[in-house]
Amino acid sequence: MEKDKTENLMADSYSPLFYQTDVELPLVAKAEGCRIWDTEGNVYIDGCSGAISVNMGHNHAGIKRAIQEQMDKVSFTYRTQFESQVAIDLAYKLVGLANNKLDKVYFVGSGSEAVESALKLAIQYYYATGQKQRSRFVSLRPSYHGSTLGALSVTAYTPLEKPFEAVTQKSIHIEGPSYYRKKEDSDDAHDDEMLRLARKAIFEEGGDTVAGIIVEPIGGASTGARVLSKRYLSGLRNLCDEIGALLIMDEVMTGAGRTGVWYCWQSVDVVPDIMALAKGLGAGYYPVGAMLAKSKITDAVMNSGGFMHGHTYAGNPLACATAIGVLNAMEHENILDNVRRQGGKLKAQLLELQQRHSIIGDVRGEGLLLAMEFVQDQATKEPFPAELNVFSIVTTEAKAQGLLVYPRRCLDGTKGDHILITPPLILDDEIRNEIVQKLDVALRNTQDFLEKH
Ligand SMILES: Cc1ncc(COP(=O)(O)O)c(C=O)c1O
Repeated sequence: MEKDKTENLMADSYSPLFYQTDVELPLVAKAEGCRIWDTEGNVYIDGCSGAISVNMGHNHAGIKRAIQEQMDKVSFTYRTQFESQVAIDLAYKLVGLANNKLDKVYFVGSGSEAVESALKLAIQYYYATGQKQRSRFVSLRPSYHGSTLGALSVTAYTPLEKPFEAVTQKSIHIEGPSYYRKKEDSDDAHDDEMLRLARKAIFEEGGDTVAGIIVEPIGGASTGARVLSKRYLSGLRNLCDEIGALLIMDEVMTGAGRTGVWYCWQSVDVVPDIMALAKGLGAGYYPVGAMLAKSKITDAVMNSGGFMHGHTYAGNPLACATAIGVLNAMEHENILDNVRRQGGKLKAQLLELQQRHSIIGDVRGEGLLLAMEFVQDQATKEPFPAELNVFSIVTTEAKAQGLLVYPRRCLDGTKGDHILITPPLILDDEIRNEIVQKLDVALRNTQDFLEKH
């Protein structure tokens, strides 16, 4: 028995590591700017910033220096024993970037933690202010808010939800807008109808049980960069005010400059009560996220005995120094301007690809959070059968060309193939053109493959 086990451990196919799937991956050797090399010498353009996180590209000298300088002083102190100047500085910085409209900051280590903290802060706020019945959340279907059990409760993406249904909180999932597949004549009419249905669902379930509505202002992997309109987001804001609940914006993917503004809500001027931030804040150099909130919420919680929540690594000096290094580099290199300029050009090129590749049904997104959705027929918008795994074919073909993209499904995770094209925000003309040229070949190869099968 022991012998068999040892033999198994020695087999070439064995690895003690496991993630979501068992796909064999190249071994990474090094990365620089928008490119990554594997140990076989192959080079890839990072067309999706890893998991839409490496916003400042790889091996950034200024960010590395900021981290090193902090490590030379102190890497870790615990927040109940010491305050650190970098944590204070970062909190001021994030509040300043929010034009002081969200004036309190709580640090975390990931997007799921930021969402988890936002949900718990909302619940504790109502607990502290005598509305204990407000403990439920409203979120859009589809949506992705993270993988921990609380964040998963508000996530609406069937394959991720199913195994955990028995233990997740029952949230109110309202159908999110689909400007691409809408039945109404205009986007405005579609927004109004979606808001009407949302209001109806919330009132049926009991508006006074709701602690908050959580929403990604521009969807990520679950919608393929669906951009919610100012009209819809204002409608959600009004709905929250009407029922007395909080508006929580999940800016884990959109925040920290990805869409050409610091926080996505600033471009529609719909101010949330709480915001979750991560991914681009640490830009892949160190895990760091934040929850920003209005002080009327945090004051009530603090006055009731403090926020009953916390993670060991939250707000440690190294994490905060990394985020400061990232934000300083972004300001120094005028990154928001670059995102708007390069994002506009890249979107125009993706729209050109749509003219040539009939499998591209829709191109959408803002700044450098862009996506294309694949369909069998541009006129009917019929998605491909799920078993064809078109999202995976395109991604594999792109990788064969040396381009990394981020595949998912936008019809509740079960069909509706799309890829996210979300390169680092330092994108330049040369890399942008290479991305488009490689994607063009990958799409042609995908189309050839589909015609043969
Ligand atoms: C909108 C959104 N919220 C939350 C998360 C969870 O973040 P993390 O993977 O850092 O836990 C993600 C991750 O993709 C996300 O896109």
